[in-house]
Amino acid sequence: MPATIVQLRSRAVRSAQAEASAVVAAGSCEALPLVDRLQRRVRYLRVSVTDRCNYRCTYCMPAGEKDYGPRDAVLRLEEVVTVVEAFVAAGVERVRLTGGEPTGRRGIVELVAALARLRGAAGPLQVVMTTNGETLAPLARPLRDAGLAAITVSLDSLQPDRFTAITRRGRLEHVLAGIDAALAAGLPVKTNTVAVRGFNDDELGTIARFAWARGATPRFIELMPMSGGALFVPGELMPAAAVRERVAAEIDAPLQDVPARDVAGLGPARYVAVSRGPWAGKALGTIGAMTENFCAGCNRVRLSATGQLHGCLGHDDAGDLRRALREHGPAAMAEVVARVLGTKRDGHGFHVDGTGGPRKSMISIGG
Ligand code: 5AD
Ligand code: SF4
Repeated sequence: MPATIVQLRSRAVRSAQAEASAVVAAGSCEALPLVDRLQRRVRYLRVSVTDRCNYRCTYCMPAGEKDYGPRDAVLRLEEVVTVVEAFVAAGVERVRLTGGEPTGRRGIVELVAALARLRGAAGPLQVVMTTNGETLAPLARPLRDAGLAAITVSLDSLQPDRFTAITRRGRLEHVLAGIDAALAAGLPVKTNTVAVRGFNDDELGTIARFAWARGATPRFIELMPMSGGALFVPGELMPAAAVRERVAAEIDAPLQDVPARDVAGLGPARYVAVSRGPWAGKALGTIGAMTENFCAGCNRVRLSATGQLHGCLGHDDAGDLRRALREHGPAAMAEVVARVLGTKRDGHGFHVDGTGGPRKSMISIGG
C-alpha cells in the first residue's frame, strides 16, 4: 500500500530530525516503565511483523493450522514504529524483527529504515532480524542499506531432503543463496539450528563448519514445547551440553566458554570457542532454554504481529498494546506495559517432558 510507505517515510524523516527529542518527549509524560517486578531491565524488544510464514516448520506450527488472522488485527507499519519509538525512548537498545517470516511483510525495508533512525539514550537503535532465508537473497542488500545491523538465518539441515522435510516446504538452495547474499552485503550472519535428536544430530559439526567457513556464527537451540506441547517429542530434545559435546567430537577439538559480550551480547545464548586445530577461535552459541535456564537474566519482551505484548515466550499472558494505541493513543501504552512487566514470570515453565509450555505457537511470536 503506497500510502503506508509514504507515511512511514515521513515518519522516519521526522524521527531523524527529532532524534534526541524523542527521549525527552517520552521521558516527560508517557515514559514506559521498563523494569519488571524482579528488577530485570528490558533492553531488547522482539517484534513480530507478520503472523504469516512461507514455511511450516514441524516444531513451530501444527500442520493444518492457518497462519493468519484478520488483516486489520495486524499492526500497521506506522503503528509498529510508534510502539518501538516509545520503547526506545524508555531504554530499549535492540529490536529484532521476526514473524512468521518478516521478509514476507510488504514494506519491511522501509520499516527497517524508519527504525534504524531511532535513537535512545545509549545511541542509535540496533535493528536486527531473524528470517528463514527463503526469500532473503534479493532483500539482503536493501535491508543492509536501510540500516539493518545483523541477521540470523534458520538452518536446520544442510541436506536438501531433510531441509524440505522439517520446513515442510523450504528449499535449501534458496536459503544458502540468502546467507551468501547477506554476507556479500556485509551483514553479520548467525545461523539458528534447532537440534533434533534422530533428525539432524549427525550434522551439527557440519553445520558449524559450514557457518565458520563463511564467517557466520552457528547457534544451536533446544527444542521447546510450544503449542500446548502438541509438537514436542521428548526423545527429540537434544540438551545444549550434548550439542557442545557432539560438535567437539566431530571437529576433534575442545570448546571453551567465552563471554557472550565478546561474540553477540544481550541474548540468552551461551557461547563457546574452539580452543585448537584448524577452527581455533571460532565460536558457537547454544540456547539451552530447557536444560540451562537463563530466565534470571531475561532482558526482553515480545510484541506479536497483532500488537499483543508478551512478557515471556513460555507463557500465554499478554497485554493488548494495539487496543491501547488504537482506542486511546500512544500515552495509553504505559499502563499496559506496566501491567505486563508487573506480572512478568520468573521462569518459562517448560518441562523436559514437553509439558508446562504455552498454548501459543512459535509462529505467532517469532521465537
Ligand atoms: N523450539 C525451539 N526453537 C524453535 N524455533 C521455532 N520453533 C521452535 C521450537 N518449538 C526457532 C526457529 C527460529 C528461532 C527464532 O526459533 O527455528 O530459528
Ligand atoms: Fe516459519 Fe520460522 Fe515457524 Fe519455520 S520456525 S514455520 S520459518 S515462523
